Amino acid sequence: MIQVKSADEITRMMKAGEIAAQALAYAGRSIKPGMSTWELDKLIHDFIVSKGARPSSLGYCGFTGSACISINEELIHGIPSKKKIIKDGDIVSVDLTVEYDGWNGDNARTFMVGEVSDEAKRLLKVTEEALYEGIKMAVAGNRIGDISNAVQTYCEKNGYHVVRKYIGHGIGRDMHEDPEVPNFGKPGRGPRLVPGMTICIEPMINSSTSEVIVLPDKWTVVEANGNLSAHFEHTVCITNGEPIIMTLEKH
Ligand code: MF3
Ligand code: CO
Ligand code: CO
Repeated sequence: MIQVKSADEITRMMKAGEIAAQALAYAGRSIKPGMSTWELDKLIHDFIVSKGARPSSLGYCGFTGSACISINEELIHGIPSKKKIIKDGDIVSVDLTVEYDGWNGDNARTFMVGEVSDEAKRLLKVTEEALYEGIKMAVAGNRIGDISNAVQTYCEKNGYHVVRKYIGHGIGRDMHEDPEVPNFGKPGRGPRLVPGMTICIEPMINSSTSEVIVLPDKWTVVEANGNLSAHFEHTVCITNGEPIIMTLEKH
């Protein structure tokens, strides 16, 4: 069931979104070549806790990190590890959710480390733009399928592949709520958007195939051909007017 939030609940949830955004920006500033993803995760953890919030991912289904950190062909759910060292030229996806005052904010971004390939730059640009194409459609009266179709159309027009196996979601008191928010689909289909709905739009985009493989660690999801992949995510609130991006550093 889709939980529509009251104005008061939205106000409280905005704070969680703001902390999630601050933590993601902090993660981006902290990434340095030579650092392990475990070290980066520790910094993120301590930042979130310093804000009086909790990393929602920590312990979720047994996940051992405070953020998912995924390098290059790794798309999502990378487990922070002392053995995974970030190198110059890598792209690093950081996906983090925080809970504050009983409410969640979830956001993700793929960062560039030092000088990356033109190929990587283009993938990141298109994936981020696809997120904003989706957000544009997140208005009352539209349907989920309008968001899904906008993301898919934009990515495919640019020659990329939309992952089917993982999708966006509603969010609120729980990190994952109804409705499902796929990055592919037909316009005019799916649940109708109403003011007070809060959803995560999160394009997960591959360079060469829409297929993914889950590694033997049972978490890390990689591009099936081993080529680059990217992930951008915002938590968005449907209103009577423009959508509100809840995961911004300042409101
Ligand atoms: N933040 C992820 C999402 O966008 C969920 C991560 S759950 C974890 O839905 F356990 F992998 F951390
Ligand atoms: Co996320
Ligand atoms: Co999400």
